[in-house]
Amino acid sequence: MLTRLVLLSLPFAVALASAIPFRGYQHKVKESIHGPPSGWYRHAPAPKHHMLELKIALPQPKFPELEQHLLEVSDPSHARYGAHLSKQETEALLAPHPETLDVVGKWLALHGLAEEDITRSSANDWVTIRVPVGLAEEMLTTEYHVYRHVHTGESIIRTTSYSLPEILHDYIDLIQPTTMFARFKAFKSTLHWTNHTPADPNPSGSTITGPAGNQVDASCNNTITVSCLRQLYNAVDYNTSATNGNAFGITGYLNESTNNVDLQQFYRLQNPSAYGSNYTSVSIHGGKNNQSYEAAGLEANLDTQFGFGLTWPTPGTFYTTGGEPIFNPDLLTGTDTNEPYSYWLEYILAQDKIPQSISTSYGDDEQTVPRSYAIRVCNGMAALGARGVSVIFSSGDGGVGDGVVYPDKPLGHQCYSNDGLKTPMFLPVFPASCP
Ligand SMILES: *[C@@H]1O[C@H](CO)[C@@H](O)[C@H](O)[C@H]1NC(C)=O
Ligand SMILES: *[C@@H]1O[C@H](CO)[C@@H](O)[C@H](O)[C@H]1NC(C)=O
Ligand SMILES: *[C@@H]1O[C@H](CO)[C@@H](O)[C@H](O)[C@H]1NC(C)=O
Ligand SMILES: *[C@@H]1O[C@H](CO)[C@@H](O)[C@H](O)[C@H]1NC(C)=O
Ligand SMILES: *[C@@H]1O[C@H](CO)[C@@H](O)[C@H](O)[C@H]1NC(C)=O
Repeated sequence: MLTRLVLLSLPFAVALASAIPFRGYQHKVKESIHGPPSGWYRHAPAPKHHMLELKIALPQPKFPELEQHLLEVSDPSHARYGAHLSKQETEALLAPHPETLDVVGKWLALHGLAEEDITRSSANDWVTIRVPVGLAEEMLTTEYHVYRHVHTGESIIRTTSYSLPEILHDYIDLIQPTTMFARFKAFKSTLHWTNHTPADPNPSGSTITGPAGNQVDASCNNTITVSCLRQLYNAVDYNTSATNGNAFGITGYLNESTNNVDLQQFYRLQNPSAYGSNYTSVSIHGGKNNQSYEAAGLEANLDTQFGFGLTWPTPGTFYTTGGEPIFNPDLLTGTDTNEPYSYWLEYILAQDKIPQSISTSYGDDEQTVPRSYAIRVCNGMAALGARGVSVIFSSGDGGVGDGVVYPDKPLGHQCYSNDGLKTPMFLPVFPASCP
């Protein structure tokens, strides 16, 4: 690391000496993709005034040390098992070098962005700025376009390549939204809908042997209930507690709201002792939890009903995060953003106390997320792990395929690489695929 810092100091000294730093430095391509991923086509130049919320990732030189802590404190056979890091210790291991803050700050100032125009993550490893497309194009020597999705008509403002002054390449890991075309998805369970809710779901009293080797109600073969989950996981005797210090979180995205009336009805049918209880709702980046009946979200309802129904009276929190990258074709009025995990991570890592278990049923095809961006989001998940949080993500509904159902296509028709070569391949889901 010492060597690296010494090397980095050189161009910085030159920059300081020059009256206008960064001028006179060649712009060099920082990231580029061969073209938009399959399904997207270039529609029109992006309106210059359209706002982009750019996230700039600053290098985390001490991340390998953080990862080492994570591996040790998570390993039941290691002496340091359970010795989780504090918020302050974790942030010290995510923090960029002070010189990085200085150099990047000067570059932003050159483009008229003062400290009050900048939002920083609590470890200072992410910088967020809101700029019009025109300014972003100047800063990144690129051109943004409106891209449309062939099947859904959704629009997104992106580019296929961006550049930075060469001197900045070592001080910035990535800037998005630029080359990221992720189509963020909710993973719904493949529930079979029935209006029939039997008072006694297992009237025959017959049992079958479950995957854990114990006997479970035979009806669990067809109808999943909270009771079935406890039986299938062989956790019938585990007593959840409101006071043992445990806490549990569920995340929601894509404007999905969890309806409190539905939740109470679910409790009444599935776990009557939870009836009348409540959970904490936290809104991040404009996330919604709209109690209008029409606004109830399938995914948010499913996740909170089964999650809180299973864990009550363990205190539950629903984190609803706004900011999704996809836009309505003709409504390019909001702010173009990234996929929203980085917003959630920024919020949660800034908290002193975090639930020990957090479950998420959303994800993207891994190949639509640039590697550099995926690594940084995975690093954030690792930081949560080092702090003792079990972060659970869904692995997808489509087996090894993409799980997207298009009316006119056979399931699995999308199982190809999006690098222009169309190599047949499995499609792992991000962030479930984080190491
Ligand atoms: C459970 O369902 C599976 C798949 O439909 C079936 O093969 C199996 O026989 C069922 N088991 C019982 C005990 O009903
Ligand atoms: C759970 O609570 C019940 C009722 O109070 C008690 O009989 C049982 O022993 C408890 N189980 C455990 C594993 O503590
Ligand atoms: C979420 O809500 C915003 C504002 O109401 C709307 O513009 C956007 O299209 C919605 N997104 C989804 C995925 O429904
Ligand atoms: C339960 O919590 C939600 C979200 O915090 C709130 O909107 C709602 O009013 C609460 N319901 C009751 C019955 O307290
Ligand atoms: C809540 O949802 C309803 C129905 O979709 C909608 O009419 C209303 O405007 C929404 N309220 C907010 C605050 O978004």
